[in-house]
Amino acid sequence: MNEAIIFDLDGVIVSTDHYHYRAWKEIADREHVPFDEERNGLLRGVSREKSLEILLELAPRTYSAEEKKQLAEEKNKIYRQLLQELTPADILPGVLTWIDEAKEKGLRIAIGSSSKNTDFILERIGLSDTFDAVVTGADVEHSKPAPDIFLLAAERLGAGPEQCWVIEDAPAGIVAAKAAGMKTIGVGEFVQNSGADRWALTLGEAKL
Ligand code: G6P
Ligand code: MG
Repeated sequence: MNEAIIFDLDGVIVSTDHYHYRAWKEIADREHVPFDEERNGLLRGVSREKSLEILLELAPRTYSAEEKKQLAEEKNKIYRQLLQELTPADILPGVLTWIDEAKEKGLRIAIGSSSKNTDFILERIGLSDTFDAVVTGADVEHSKPAPDIFLLAAERLGAGPEQCWVIEDAPAGIVAAKAAGMKTIGVGEFVQNSGADRWALTLGEAKL
């Protein structure tokens, strides 16, 4: 029996790709690092720190740990400013129906996101009190593709990994869910060939 659903946040509940892109692009331009939408795709689902490592792979010079910490903080400042634009109207199609149906069926639901801005985003879109558990990159040492975020979400829901479905838009998230021993629904073009148990272009078209 299916007991629980764990939703990724960015790209599943709400699309923040473009905000991340605008913020990273500002940092990249300032540091003379080539960066475009395609490279931004490599940052999907992974932590802020790992994202910076990937961005700086093309940098003309090396950076100290202290400089990296500062760049990550600056990026987040710009990103948080942009997130002010989010409203409940930005909730992606199909999300509210999934939540309502899960609740009708008595399934427990959680958010499992790498983002340390999860609480702020949920607040902006009016879903702060919707989920039975919210686990973020701030709660674990190892972010996706490690399974830790999803395992902690299952624990907080009181469900075993085999009872959980994970909904993800990023390859790193599918890897994390599989490593956790959970079933996966891939949503969107970036996970079409990532080995998810089920796949749909949008959450509105996906079925449990
Ligand atoms: C999500 C996004 C990633 C982002 C990560 C950390 O998983 O898909 O692109 O790097 O969260 O986000 P944060 O809000 O903590 O910087
Ligand atoms: Mg995502």
